[in-house]
Amino acid sequence: MAKKASAVIKQKPVTISVIKADIGGYVGHSASHPDILTLARELLVKAKAAGTVADFHVSNCGDDLELIMTHWLGNDSKVIHGLAWDVFTAGTELAKKMKLYGAGQDMLADSFCGNVKGMGPGVAEMTFVERKSEPIVVFCGDKCAPGAWNYPLYKMFADPFNTIGLVIDPSMHDGFKFEVHDIHAGRDMFLSCPEQMYDLLVLIGSPENYIIKNVYTKQGEIAAASSTQKLALIAGKYVGKDDPVCIVRGQSGLPAIGEILEPFSFPHIVSGWMRGSHYGPLMPVSVPQATPSRFDGPPRVIALGFQVNEGALVGPRDMFDDPSFDLARQQANEIGEMLRRHGPFEPHRLGLKDMEYTTLPQVLDKLVGKPKK
Ligand code: 13P
Ligand code: 13P
Ligand code: MG
Ligand code: MG
Repeated sequence: MAKKASAVIKQKPVTISVIKADIGGYVGHSASHPDILTLARELLVKAKAAGTVADFHVSNCGDDLELIMTHWLGNDSKVIHGLAWDVFTAGTELAKKMKLYGAGQDMLADSFCGNVKGMGPGVAEMTFVERKSEPIVVFCGDKCAPGAWNYPLYKMFADPFNTIGLVIDPSMHDGFKFEVHDIHAGRDMFLSCPEQMYDLLVLIGSPENYIIKNVYTKQGEIAAASSTQKLALIAGKYVGKDDPVCIVRGQSGLPAIGEILEPFSFPHIVSGWMRGSHYGPLMPVSVPQATPSRFDGPPRVIALGFQVNEGALVGPRDMFDDPSFDLARQQANEIGEMLRRHGPFEPHRLGLKDMEYTTLPQVLDKLVGKPKK
């Protein structure tokens, strides 16, 4: 009888919620203060003891605090989003007391209204029944924007030059479906690969406008989920850059962990460096090296690997803490140097349309107001 009950519990879908916010930087925008991380851990230890979350891991990429939580309450749970909001609120209070930089930067609303989406924090969530073995990777970025995952997600799930499994693994040979979010129109589109590969690229090649939200198998199983909130659009002015997070499941019919990490061997160029106003290469780094310093960058990405076991997060393994990514880091430094030499010139600086959400409009207003001589 007891055996039967545990088999039922195993089939219960588990939810992984990665909810993040920049609630204050130490020093400037370069990292999170250890006391803030400790406070977040203490609060989540309590939530675990109370049974609200099954397990959790607290991390940071630069000045972004990431709460990685497993639970049984499904996506968009008011309880889990409320918990994250409370942790960020308590963290903001401490950050203000410590006079950390930009304390409460991503906390746009005064009070919690049921779901943190649209309130400032970024969210990536997925719910699934655990397979016999459930490896996942959580990616967290700093000094970049949600579209930063378009290139790597495309490589992982649609490019056979990255993912040989698409060619030689019969369980992946059919390809994957991409859910793409049109951030200006606020609508979602589904594109199937390889059949609609060119259509997909028309959209996601413009990561400031179209963002891959989820990736599914052709059978409808969730494979990847990213955060798509755009703080600049939420707030209507520059408040921070919605540094994104992403969850990817691996192996057994999905890309192998090595295929999931492989796209980051190329430090592709993303927007979000210095004042959210510059393009720069996305440098894959270990957690201790996720401290963007040079010109507040270059942009960083960390990869936390876990084996999920009946809701427990076994890990993390710090996946980019590996010499095989040294060349990517070196190339990121070289590309970063090349771009930096452009100073205030495009294409290092963002195009004018994207600068609308920064502090540039105030400068332009002043100029327009000046009488002609
Ligand atoms: P799986 O089919 O078990 O995921 O193995 C593929 C693999 O790990 C090759 O690197
Ligand atoms: P964050 O969005 O990571 O706080 O960075 C602000 C910035 O652009 C610093 O140059
Ligand atoms: Mg910041
Ligand atoms: Mg940040």
